[in-house]
Amino acid sequence: MILGVPKETIENEKRVALVPDSISKLKGLEVRVQSGAGAAAGFTDEAYRAKGAVIVSDVRSLYQESDIILKVMPPEISESSWIKEGAVLISFLYPHSHLELLNSLSSRKASVFGMDLIPRTSRAQFMDALSSQATVAGYKAVVLATDSLPKIFPMLITAAGTIPAAKVFVIGAGVAGLQAIATAHRMGASVEAYDLRPVVKEQIESLGAKFVSLPLEVQDAQTSGGYAKAQSEEFYRKQQEFLAKTAQNADVVITTALVPGKRAPVLLSEEGVKAMKPSSVIVDLAAEQGGNCALTEPGKTVVKYGVTIHGLLNLPSLISSQSSLMYSRNISAFLALMLKDGKVHIDLNDDLISGSLAAYQGEVLFPKKPAPVAAAAGGKTA
Ligand code: NAI
Repeated sequence: MILGVPKETIENEKRVALVPDSISKLKGLEVRVQSGAGAAAGFTDEAYRAKGAVIVSDVRSLYQESDIILKVMPPEISESSWIKEGAVLISFLYPHSHLELLNSLSSRKASVFGMDLIPRTSRAQFMDALSSQATVAGYKAVVLATDSLPKIFPMLITAAGTIPAAKVFVIGAGVAGLQAIATAHRMGASVEAYDLRPVVKEQIESLGAKFVSLPLEVQDAQTSGGYAKAQSEEFYRKQQEFLAKTAQNADVVITTALVPGKRAPVLLSEEGVKAMKPSSVIVDLAAEQGGNCALTEPGKTVVKYGVTIHGLLNLPSLISSQSSLMYSRNISAFLALMLKDGKVHIDLNDDLISGSLAAYQGEVLFPKKPAPVAAAAGGKTA
């Protein structure tokens, strides 16, 4: 079978789905890589060739001849029409906003898997690209903040006197938030953090940060999958008031709060930003989902009331080498689940496979319906 790795097409996307070192893990496949696909992440055509890949220049024939396509971001609609009939596509999908793409891929009878749809169970940890990319984003958020803040992070005792540590407040302590806490703490900042889910208190404290407890009664904070549940408007209004009090003492606020399938909750109001110290910095990692700060402009860095607000999108792409490396390991581990003797075997009885399947043999399976019943026990070979 032929596995194709096209170059990412969306603006500012520097990642690549497969790095040269992963090729040896995909036994029995002929790997073809579009020329230049890894260049922005530091992986040259020569490096792919050295690991046995064939470099191709024509992306259309790459799609037309590949039985499996690996991507970071979903393909463009125009690319999807080139995909070989019955091929397998694995990428981030964000299916809520890509239904037209799914229909187009389905018309080619493609089997389409979303890296963002893989159930986040313990068995899926090696494949958890949401976590690997959020880890990189959490780190980069802190680095962005250090660049914009006219202060250093650590406390220094110098001949010129004592410089206090910068204060960093992290709102939302999921994967990205915990990495931001760890990074800011390592850089010497004094770190406080808050999350709607009280279960993360211990994790926050184990990273050397102080857990900020709000006098709010949280009803039913968490889903069975570990995600936050949406709260009432009244709850969010009160939360904004309390969070503003901690934010006004902070030099840096990093927000990461998300609720799956919904716009990100607004946790920092305009009034809250106004009350912050001049020259302080907000990095809004929820910008992609609308932002946790009322003044965030997704895709931009703006200064409002003297506060720098970063709403940059796709932070993992800014650390393209390692985010590609981790994504490549995630996607290879997922594909390896389905590879048997160099062929793809789609076992619909496997919850990781059926859970991440968004289209199968001409049928769009999103919004999620129960997986189709396997034609024969153990699934079907593509
Ligand atoms: P996420 O990106 O959906 O959300 C980020 C954080 O925002 C979460 O911690 C959430 O509680 C918080 N949040 C949402 N609304 C908030 C509000 N109003 N105020 C304050 N904080 C708010 O979550 P992420 O990082 O993708 O993962 C969240 C959880 O999922 C993990 O902590 C874990 O429990 C679970 N998970 C499990 C894995 C596994 O291997 N079993 C792997 C990864 C995550």
